[in-house]
Amino acid sequence: MFEPKFFWHGADYNFEQWLDYPNVLTRDIELMKAARCNVMSIGIFSWAMLEPVEGEYEFGWMDGLMDRLAENEIGAILATPSAAKPAWMSQSYPEIRLVDEYGRRHPHHLRHNHCPTSPIYRQKVRQINTLLAERYRDHPALMMWHVSNEYGNQNCRCELCLQAFREWLQMRYGSLDAVNKAWWTAFWSHRYTDWSQIEPVDPSVHGLMLDWMRFVSDQVLDFYLAEKEPLQEITPNVPVTTNFMWPNVGLDYWTFASHVDVISWDSYPRWHSEIEDWRLAADTAFFHDLHRSYQQRPFLLMESTPSVTNWQGVSRPKRPGMHVLASLQAVAHGANSVQYFQWRQSRGGAEKFHGAVVSHAGREQTRTFQEVTAVGELLARLGPVLESVNQADVAIIYDLQNEWALDMAQLPRNKDKNYQERCLAHYRQFWQQGVTVDIINSNFTEFSNYKLVVAPMLYLLQEGVAEWLCEYVQAGGTLVTTYLTGVVNQSDLVFMGGSPGPLKDLLGIWVEETDVLFDHHQQTIQLTNKTLSGANYPVKHYADIVHSQGAEVFAVYEQDFYAGSPAITVNQFGKGRAYYLAARYDDGFLTDFYGWLAKMLGLKTAIVHPLPRGVTAQVRTKDTEKFIFLLNFEPIPQTIKLDVPAAVDALSEQVITDAFTIAGYGFRILKLARGIV
Ligand code: GLA
Ligand code: ZN
Repeated sequence: MFEPKFFWHGADYNFEQWLDYPNVLTRDIELMKAARCNVMSIGIFSWAMLEPVEGEYEFGWMDGLMDRLAENEIGAILATPSAAKPAWMSQSYPEIRLVDEYGRRHPHHLRHNHCPTSPIYRQKVRQINTLLAERYRDHPALMMWHVSNEYGNQNCRCELCLQAFREWLQMRYGSLDAVNKAWWTAFWSHRYTDWSQIEPVDPSVHGLMLDWMRFVSDQVLDFYLAEKEPLQEITPNVPVTTNFMWPNVGLDYWTFASHVDVISWDSYPRWHSEIEDWRLAADTAFFHDLHRSYQQRPFLLMESTPSVTNWQGVSRPKRPGMHVLASLQAVAHGANSVQYFQWRQSRGGAEKFHGAVVSHAGREQTRTFQEVTAVGELLARLGPVLESVNQADVAIIYDLQNEWALDMAQLPRNKDKNYQERCLAHYRQFWQQGVTVDIINSNFTEFSNYKLVVAPMLYLLQEGVAEWLCEYVQAGGTLVTTYLTGVVNQSDLVFMGGSPGPLKDLLGIWVEETDVLFDHHQQTIQLTNKTLSGANYPVKHYADIVHSQGAEVFAVYEQDFYAGSPAITVNQFGKGRAYYLAARYDDGFLTDFYGWLAKMLGLKTAIVHPLPRGVTAQVRTKDTEKFIFLLNFEPIPQTIKLDVPAAVDALSEQVITDAFTIAGYGFRILKLARGIV
């Protein structure tokens, strides 16, 4: 198990771009020390510089870099170079280049575009990885393997990949007949009579496309495992990671998670954009929590920008304070590192205007360099936080396969399906209350510790999921579900008997039909008791018309032909309760509903309640202490009142008993003895 001894602080260092500049390394090391950096990710895109001609290697520059880093007590996160292949290789071995859905083999260009099946590419990767591992196995700088870079959905449709897909299907289904049944291929005469007819190019056969996405994810995982093999054999004690990115890139990171020693990910929120910063902060927090939840352990922030990106529509420089705040946000949610893309800004190529710790100006007297240094100094003082963990009472199910299926589904209302956005909307309510949340996928099995599980729009139910949800509620858990739940099985076949499919008993309802609303349509609900203070909460987009079969009616619709029918139900099931929010509700309702539920269930909140808008409190706990990160994502100062008599400032050790103010884009870290809520 990977447990760093100190917070890591560093960046991607693309030294291979600077081999003709003899003074750069000396200057960079000086600057790295000034910025309190202690790790660098190196070698990520350096294959052409390591093996300029097939079979001829130049490791000299890498040796020098590793030595200089070690001499200066800076660790190396050494990358394998498979994310970008050398031109000679693309030329000599065309099969390694990806083929698109129109059968076109890509030219040698860009990066992240190899065929994941090609035996030649796998062999070449194995060779270079073996050489790297053998050469640096005992090098004092080597701290971790950074395998490839941001694996994505390598949607290669070459003959090798198609063949592998057909074999994958044979393993999964056994017979073509079973495939035809699972994919409902009598529709539009899609029946297959030979495996060779199966091509993943038909968006009208949902089962096919869903399986293709699953296959690609498995194939990329298989490629990763092949990359990892020589590293593990030669350096069994060096931890291995690969950097994840935005969740829906077509990879099932939950399966990857059990094959990395630590989760690492790359986070690039668009601060100061058309979305208010506090909202974006809540969304970013969701993704940090997701990456912590993959292994239920602290993770590494492998990349973030120290200033701006250059691939987003508009990327504004972070306002003063924001860099430190955003970095601490990652830590608050479980990161044990803050790392950047990139250390030194390139002179040429597509990323020459992407932000870097060292800009083209080459100086340390820049705002960016100073804020990066401030992060380095802070991390050095936060040592005691390192061994702490985030403990959640609440889990939100955000399920990737469900997202794939929903994206494909052609529904009566296709506009604004917004699955991910709805998961974020539910999450924001907890973030604003300072309640810690895990983000899990639907077949996550360690659910018994949660007091509340929220599953928005769980349209596709994989095998076993209905059973665990029932078991969870039966044992006393509380479950919140919504419209568009339990509609299809894992092959994307609709449950006979209608929705919510196998969750009918658990929820105590059945769905007759669904009304969909244009934006100008009006529908509201009325609560059947006075549980929540508001009234006439509006409905948007979707409204299921449901019948109770034992569930208590919590709210009813007020308009249209289904006025008076249930809009929210709650069903007692075993020792627990399961809610069904039959329609889509706005933030006003969600705030009242989850505020009430949090009180009812006694959810752990941080020590401040209520938090001013835009301030969150995130807690990391260890044996004897709790660290409470209060983060203000509004540009204005905000006042905080404690719910406990006293707390200690974790940085200054000052005892705090009164209300205090946090500056705009500011923070405060408090410390409490464990046991005090
Ligand atoms: C990704 C990549 C990096 C770099 C950054 C730019 O995260 O991993 O190599 O391209 O984006 O933001
Ligand atoms: Zn291929």
